[in-house]
Amino acid sequence: MNENDIRKAISNLPLGGIRTFEQVGSTNDVALAWAADGAPDLAMVYADEQKSGRGRGNRRWFTPPGAALAFSIINRPSTAEEQSIPLFSGLGAMAVCEALGSRGLHPEIKWPNDVLLDRQKVCGILAEAVWTGEKVDCIILGIGVNVNPASVPSSEQLNYPATCIETVLGKSVDRLVLLRDILQALLYWRGLLTKDVFPAAWNKYLAFRGEQVEIRSEGVPPRVGMVDGLERDGGLRLRSLDGQLFVAQFGEMQLRPVL
Ligand code: ATP
Ligand code: BTN
Repeated sequence: MNENDIRKAISNLPLGGIRTFEQVGSTNDVALAWAADGAPDLAMVYADEQKSGRGRGNRRWFTPPGAALAFSIINRPSTAEEQSIPLFSGLGAMAVCEALGSRGLHPEIKWPNDVLLDRQKVCGILAEAVWTGEKVDCIILGIGVNVNPASVPSSEQLNYPATCIETVLGKSVDRLVLLRDILQALLYWRGLLTKDVFPAAWNKYLAFRGEQVEIRSEGVPPRVGMVDGLERDGGLRLRSLDGQLFVAQFGEMQLRPVL
């Protein structure tokens, strides 16, 4: 990894600062520490390799060297954005979708926080909010993207099938150009987070629309329903087998297709 190349690739983007690492435990942890130390809005932590990358529920996220993108953006929400905290995860997913779409791919968002290509996971988003009392101090938006085949864990390590961009695209991908495109889309959509176009655009990428899925959440029985669409606040609207609409609220949920 060459730090100068990274800085050059994204030099024209209005980020709040950049810290790059050959290797870290988790970019989210480094970003949390930087945020506690006063990092500005849109500061970024980038690493070539993560030794203890995290998914939700402290599950592992695999990031071997030279194969993936792993970075975390520190967001300091404005007063208006404080009403839209659950949308930050969608912001990360949508930024990745736009960058993949511009390469002729057809990404989909597996609600709430994964990006799929060919129905396989190519990217995971981990949004972590830090609160001071009732006020959100910052949201760390961690994004992991599988770029080349070395980034894809073996199937025994996975609880959902995974792939990488190069496998689906059939050609090599410049990671830094991809990083730039994702960040550019992220900055654009961050500016629209509180507007109606935001959930509408997210909705367009929603995976399994019209299909039966199971919503799993710890401590409660799974619910089956047909994916109907996204609510304004990031919740997922489904139609149960008896025709009733219900909403899965954004949170520690897992979605699985019913095969
Ligand atoms: P799920 O993907 O099961 O719906 P989730 O979105 O909450 O749930 P997490 O469980 O938080 O995902 O993500 C971590 C999981 O992702 C790990 O348990 C592992 O199965 C899988 N995983 C880890 N590294 C990668 C990777 N590089 N690419 C794809 N999947 C990965
Ligand atoms: C998921 O699939 O649920 C989320 C995976 C998030 C992985 C990214 S990689 C960059 C950032 N650092 C981490 O430790 N996790 C996120």
